[in-house]
Amino acid sequence: MTRRAAIIGHPVAHSRSPLIHGHWLVQHGIDGEYGRRDIEPEAIDAFLADFAASGLIGANVTVPHKEAAFRAVAALDPVAAALGAVNTLWLEDGHLNGANTDVHGFLANLDAAEPDWARALGEAVVLGAGGASRAVIYGLISRGIGRVVVANRTLARAQALRDQFGAQVLPVDWRDLGGRLNGCRLLVNTTSLGMKGQPPLDIDLSALSPDAVVSDIVYVPLETPLLATARARGLKTVDGLGMLLHQAVPGFERWFGVRPQVTAELRDLVL
Ligand code: ATR
Repeated sequence: MTRRAAIIGHPVAHSRSPLIHGHWLVQHGIDGEYGRRDIEPEAIDAFLADFAASGLIGANVTVPHKEAAFRAVAALDPVAAALGAVNTLWLEDGHLNGANTDVHGFLANLDAAEPDWARALGEAVVLGAGGASRAVIYGLISRGIGRVVVANRTLARAQALRDQFGAQVLPVDWRDLGGRLNGCRLLVNTTSLGMKGQPPLDIDLSALSPDAVVSDIVYVPLETPLLATARARGLKTVDGLGMLLHQAVPGFERWFGVRPQVTAELRDLVL
């Protein structure tokens, strides 16, 4: 019987997940489908409460339904529990289970692109304090990073992350960022700045360590103004597309029983 999974969100027309999973299904000769389900916010609770009726064996969840999915599941992985957000669902013995694979996606992308990124890494700077920032901070702390400086336009949101993660997180006002880049060896943008249609992220990178890695979770365009500036300075850069591809791996493995690879061919396809 054909196994079916989907991306659930609102809207979902732009989602690249069907391309990613469709590629892997064909590559591995699996009798499966991966589609899109656009579910209105008013309808998401009922949809998840009777997930089995959807005909899906599992799903990815995107904006704005990650918190609803968190509330709907019978069991959670520890990452999803810590982040309060679920992006991967599957049915197990008739019960809906949930995980959050964004942390895996972020770390696996850095590991693949710059395997030495965490060596001797004392302090990292994370720009932004939304849901994506939370996943990045969780990942950095799980790798033993001593301190994560979180710079955000709205300081209170960065302070809330310190309340959640503890003293390793140092919240700073966006406007005081300049003074925090001295010696920094990893800078991660989690804001929407630099995304197509948004203003560029325009910061002075001159204080960064010459061996610093600059990473962006934005992937449209692939080379954001931030990454272009970093590259022009001779710094290592890691784009956001890999995070999207790597976060898809655990879900595919769970639904279809094969651990897929993130290849250059897949990157070209999804771009
Ligand atoms: P996500 O869950 O995808 O991370 P989010 O919760 O909307 O999305 O967070 C977006 C992040 O981008 C926030 O850190 C936001 O800053 P505020 O908390 O001050 O809103 C940041 N951001 C968005 N537009 C921005 C802008 N024009 N200048 C500075 N930061 C911006």
